[in-house]
Formats: sequence, C-alpha cells, structure tokens
Amino acid sequence: MNHEKLETNVGWMGILIAVAISFGGLAEIVPLMYNAESVEPLPGMKPYSALEVAGRDIYVREGCYNCHSQMVRTLRFETQRYGHYSLAGESVYDRPFQWGSKRTGPDLARVGGRYSDDWHIKHLINPRDLVPESNMPGYPWLAKDKVAVSQTVANLRGLRTLRHPYTDEEIDQASAALVDKTEMDALVAYLQGLGRYAPKNTASPAAATDGGQP
Ligand code: HEC
Repeated sequence: MNHEKLETNVGWMGILIAVAISFGGLAEIVPLMYNAESVEPLPGMKPYSALEVAGRDIYVREGCYNCHSQMVRTLRFETQRYGHYSLAGESVYDRPFQWGSKRTGPDLARVGGRYSDDWHIKHLINPRDLVPESNMPGYPWLAKDKVAVSQTVANLRGLRTLRHPYTDEEIDQASAALVDKTEMDALVAYLQGLGRYAPKNTASPAAATDGGQP
C-alpha cells in the first residue's frame, strides 16, 4: 500500500528517484576518483618526447579529435581492426586525454608505425592525394610553420610539476631537439608514437566470450 501511495505522489517519487540516482552515481564515481591516483603507467613507459609534446599540442589545436577517437574498445571487431584494446595506463601522460567517441575518421590509438612518415606528410597536406574518397581537410601550413620552441619547453616544465618524469637533462636538451622543426615534423612524430606501449597481442575479453561480432 505504501508503495502505491509513493508511486502516485509525483513529489516524493521525484525526490526518491533523485536519491536513488545519486547513490548509483556516487557508487560509480567515488571509487574512480581514488583509482585515478593508482592508475600506473605501463611497464617501461616514458612521457612524450619534446617533439611529440609539440605535435600533440598541434593535434589538439587543429581539432583532429573532432573526427578521430583514440580509444580502442574491448569488442572483437574493434581489436581485429585496430589492435589491442586501450588500457588506462597508456593515457597517464595525456593531458587532456584524447579518447573521444567521434569517428568520422578511424581511431588513431594504434596508428603509430602503420604508415611511413612520408605517407603521413602527403596525407596531412592533402588527404585526397592518397585516399581519393577522403573528406579529411588538408593541413598544408603545418609543413611551413615552425614549432614554438620556448612554449614547448615551458610545457615540459609544466608537465613535470604534474609528475611527468622528465629529467633536467631532457628539459635542457629540448630546445635543441625542437629547433628548426616544422609543425609537420612534430605532428608526425606524435602520430608515429601512438600505440607504442600497447600490448602486442589482440586477445580481448570479447574474443574469449565471443561477445562481439566482427
Ligand atoms: C573532418 C574530419 C577529419 C578531421 C578534422 C581530421 N581527419 Fe584524419 N581522417 C578523416 C577521415 C574520414 C579519414 C579516413 C580517410 C583518409 O585516410 O583520409 C582520416 C584518416 C586519417 C589518418 C589515417 C588513419 C588510418 O588508420 O588509416 C590519420 C593518421 C589522420 N586522419 C590524422 C589526422 C590528423 C592528425 C588530423 C588533424 C590535423 C586529422 N586527421 C583531422 C577525417 C578527419
């Protein structure tokens, strides 16, 4: 009877729904807040090099994430197409992360090493030269503009305060590694590093339980 009274009282029903949802939310969100601290980099993983940091900033500046995700899901058709599903530890040096879900173009989490540097350069200048049906925009200016050296070095120092383990030596040598590099060099270096630390086998829980169809 009480139950029926509740269900016919919009006010109480609303309040109790809000309480139920908040509990659900808290149970999911609070443990993650603590877990986030304990997500460790994968074994042997290093933070991005100076050139890759510059490239990553260009990736964000140009809005590549509007069309490309960087997260392989644990479904068989994804692991068959892209490689091992993404692990939390791979993203510890990504601020902000580039996971996303918008895929006008393919996921890029495993694109490193799939093509040559020359392929990337041609593709970024005018994608249709290589993939005639592509609707990706060209980014020809990247081949001319130079990377912002002092800005990138400052970024490395900033990242170090966020516990990215750069040594003094790496920071001292950063300017030399960046001088005369174009934005294209930096972006291609970043792309070629994507998926570097991914486990090599493509087994996934979905494959084991036959959960995803290719
Ligand atoms: C308007 C959407 C759009 C934007 C913005 C975009 N791309 Fe793409 N991208 C695509 C599409 C569609 C493809 C697939 C066709 C092709 O290869 O050109 C693609 C393909 C790629 C590939 C080849 C991936 C593979 O596995 O074959 C790379 C690498 C890439 N894009 C990088 C970038 C970068 C870097 C940027 C930003 C500078 C960017 N894209 C911006 C749509 C986009």
